[in-house]
Amino acid sequence: MGAPREVWVQVARVPEVRAAGVYVVQAGRYTIALFAEGDRIYAVDNRCPHMGFPLHRGTLRDGLLTCHWHHARFDLQTGGTFDLWADDLTVFPVEIRGDEVWVNLSPSGDARERARVRLEDGLKHGLPLVLAKTVLRLLELGEDPVEIFRIGLNFGVRHRRDGWGPGLTILTAMMNLLSDLDPSDRPRALYHGLAAVATDAEDSPPRLPVRPLPGAADPDRLHRWFQQFVEVRDAEGAERCLASAIAAGLPPAIIAEMIFAAATDHRYLAVGHALDFANKAFEALEIAGWADADLVLTSLVPVLVRGERMEESVAWRHPVDLVGLLERAFEALPALRPSPEGRWAGPEALIPVLLGEDPEAIVDALLGALREGAPWAEVAGTVALAAALRIVHFSLHNEHGDWDTALHTFSFAHAVHQAMRRFPSPALLRGVFDAAMSVYLDRFLNVPSVPLPEPRAPAGMPNRVTATLAALLDRQGAVQEAASVVAGCLQAGGEASPVRAALGHALLREDRDFHTIQMVEAAFRESAIWRGTRWEPFLLIAAARYLAAHAPTRRAQEQIYRIAERLHRGERLYEEA
Ligand code: FES
Repeated sequence: MGAPREVWVQVARVPEVRAAGVYVVQAGRYTIALFAEGDRIYAVDNRCPHMGFPLHRGTLRDGLLTCHWHHARFDLQTGGTFDLWADDLTVFPVEIRGDEVWVNLSPSGDARERARVRLEDGLKHGLPLVLAKTVLRLLELGEDPVEIFRIGLNFGVRHRRDGWGPGLTILTAMMNLLSDLDPSDRPRALYHGLAAVATDAEDSPPRLPVRPLPGAADPDRLHRWFQQFVEVRDAEGAERCLASAIAAGLPPAIIAEMIFAAATDHRYLAVGHALDFANKAFEALEIAGWADADLVLTSLVPVLVRGERMEESVAWRHPVDLVGLLERAFEALPALRPSPEGRWAGPEALIPVLLGEDPEAIVDALLGALREGAPWAEVAGTVALAAALRIVHFSLHNEHGDWDTALHTFSFAHAVHQAMRRFPSPALLRGVFDAAMSVYLDRFLNVPSVPLPEPRAPAGMPNRVTATLAALLDRQGAVQEAASVVAGCLQAGGEASPVRAALGHALLREDRDFHTIQMVEAAFRESAIWRGTRWEPFLLIAAARYLAAHAPTRRAQEQIYRIAERLHRGERLYEEA
């Protein structure tokens, strides 16, 4: 294929441009500003790349064009900006033919590559408007969302000294949500994910990864040492073990076993965040591929090493020594074998015990189910379901901050469940028991227990569910009404996908809140696993209640996104400013 044909058009006469100093013409789909300076004429896109202000109203001095709206400065010759939040300006090659001015309208260079570079600028300099504009541009150019995710992941694991954090968790959660969202919300989800990664990296020194050991080390020893080094909170030693195990090409299941064992050596480590982050890191690798596994997985070491251990907390020791109870139960775990096809009584019998008031009965019921041959992932999923039911019945008399207590348990239980589906192990079974104890500790959040919502299905459902939920969530405290609408849509086997899309839309228009995002994503994924059962609606009701309890926010991030969207559509913003 030959080079693309150049499109030269005559746009003006030299004398009229020189006489005017700056002269605006329409050429093809562009409005072009022609600037005469010295013996040269320059042609640029008249829309400021920042927010579209007409640049012919700017000031040109010594080749430097300054936009009058937010004062971004551009080199007129190359279009390059000195204010990175504004983006580079599109310039068009000019030829003077006699007294005619001709400009070349053909696109120059690789637009997709330019947009990728710009995405990295947005991440490096923490520029949400640039991120939103670039996501829209890349998707328009046919970029795969996975590639956009990969750029964010790669940036995030290199640029935050404290390693994996909320930003990368949000980015991965957003990728997981994509298929549930209305297509028009998918760029919005990527924008939020990338902006969260950029925020996490802001003001942080970069991570300096530790090199693997110089030769081939014994894999069993690496495994043991890793756990020992995490135990004594030695981040450097632990990271070198993990990097060496990955460099040695150990299979993902073995690497997962190392990480999840370290994450469950102590009870409910970092209020569940350590295991939650670890699970998300493996999900990220599932999306992006294993190529950067060393950088991604070693970024988990800080949270594994520093996390608070619940052995040190009063609630896990008094008045019942839950830690002692669990340690005795864990002695039985090595004798258990995973049985993916095992038969057991199912969640119906286990759920009431999990939501009960007797921790010994909970531990016995879990051990009983496992000995019966219950599939480990199903037991983990049942504990996650019990954690979601705490949110379904969460009393509005609790302190507002208690929503997070219930959320932490659910998010952790969900992470254990997802990890167990991929990499079943006795170590992860300890996580199942931890999650069950956290469900037990949260029992006072259901006093009094809020009854299930009365199903309410306003006219036009499910088509109008997005608008109905959006209107409800415009005001504070619509917790029960939102739950009723979701219950109404799902009653008698109603289709869940419009409800998911509506909840996803409601989530994305609010300012990013780490916990609300975790809640909605976990509820969507757990509900997909319980699809077609009587449990499916409970998970979406939990999501609706939590979301409604945290809405509305200022929606400042949505405003940025809408500006980007309007610019992308070619709308004029400045006229309304
Ligand atoms: S600097 Fe030009 S529109 Fe903002």
